[in-house]
Amino acid sequence: MPFPSTFLWGAATSSYQIEGAVREDGRGESVWDRFCHTLPPRIARGDTGDTACDHYHRFREDVALMRDLGLQAYRFSIAWPRVLPEGTGRVSAAGVSFYDHLVDELLRAGIKPFATLYHWDLPQALQDRGGWLNPASVEWFAEYTDVISRRLGDRVQGWITHNEPWIVAFVGHFYAGHPPGLADLTAACQAAHHLLLAHGAAVPVLRRNAPLAEVGIALNLNPVYPASDRPADQAAACRQDGFLNRWFLDPLFRGTYPDDMVALLQEWLPRIDLAAVRAAAAPLDFLGVNYYIRNVVEHAGDELPLRLRHVPQAEAETTAMGWEICPKGLTDLLLRLKQDYAPKAIYITENGAAFDDPPPRDGVVEDPQRVAYLRAHLMATEAALSQGVPVKGYFVWSLLDNFEWTHGYEKRFGIIHVDPVTRARIPKRSAQYYRQVIINSAAHEG
Ligand code: FCB
Repeated sequence: MPFPSTFLWGAATSSYQIEGAVREDGRGESVWDRFCHTLPPRIARGDTGDTACDHYHRFREDVALMRDLGLQAYRFSIAWPRVLPEGTGRVSAAGVSFYDHLVDELLRAGIKPFATLYHWDLPQALQDRGGWLNPASVEWFAEYTDVISRRLGDRVQGWITHNEPWIVAFVGHFYAGHPPGLADLTAACQAAHHLLLAHGAAVPVLRRNAPLAEVGIALNLNPVYPASDRPADQAAACRQDGFLNRWFLDPLFRGTYPDDMVALLQEWLPRIDLAAVRAAAAPLDFLGVNYYIRNVVEHAGDELPLRLRHVPQAEAETTAMGWEICPKGLTDLLLRLKQDYAPKAIYITENGAAFDDPPPRDGVVEDPQRVAYLRAHLMATEAALSQGVPVKGYFVWSLLDNFEWTHGYEKRFGIIHVDPVTRARIPKRSAQYYRQVIINSAAHEG
């Protein structure tokens, strides 16, 4: 696979999923701490992120593993409640210095730090003030961005404002699957609006505090296909695309919400000044694409609000999450992004898979399915690259087996195995494969 020598090879994680140490050094409570500890249990096996991978104490070991892997970049997220335990106001010196040390350790290992500001662990103190439903959340986020980027802006080379704001807005406020656990579409649309405005407010702060860094956002984007070529199914696919993809892409790249979706969702948008979303369109250096699945949908008149239904692909190979494996969806998605939005650059900020790996044997975990998954998706990326899509790098999800949200530790996405009891790290065969990909790609240099 002839990737350009400048292509950036990385791995991704997020704070709540790996750090643990939730009560240490003055860290404030996050919405995920509260969610995991609220009865009845909503997380598989009653798992929590209390200890997670214990990365807070083992980050030097983890950076050494990254260096052995040959990683060129590492995407981590910053826990807002570690930096500002009450969400605003008082800064925790210990919290900030954890990230300070992590960044220095990465730089010493020759690894570019990419920091995500918000990967879902909102300070509980801010949730108690309404969370993303409070219009003040826009200023809260700008303040947090300012505090942390003033400290790290001279060294962090890539900044990602939000991770998957669609999930925060809709899974958190409409499907009730994540905190704050609401089932209210009006609230979800409002949360989405504030997330977009918060992004728009953070970008100029990052420009000021990190003038040399690249700034972007990471979206979960799913290419959507109609189940048949019936016009009704095609229209359904267009609505699902509007809901999942265009609801964020249009504001970010055009400064407007998509008209067809505004018309469709209008009764759920009563309190939103839709024109204000132009503030979300601050020019970006890159779009971060998190790719896992495609959607296949058909028209279903009685299914509100979108009047469509997902059509399972019976024959398809799936991961342990039950997600269809569809590398071609990634190529289609990347080509479409270039055509419709022409981002300056794209990083694949997440892609990877959970499989039921066997236990380690002789110091390695054999995970041939993950190797095949990665190979297929890298080829799909390369296919888009060779058709002119400006993909500049790839971050595998994830570096470590970690706390997979409501699935707890049952679903393992890592290229490095983490022992559930001792938390010892053992690279999987996929880590060796990935290392070789990086070496081969560097060899193309000449
Ligand atoms: C994404 C999340 C990430 C991880 C992967 C599997 O939606 O950004 O934290 O859970 O899915």
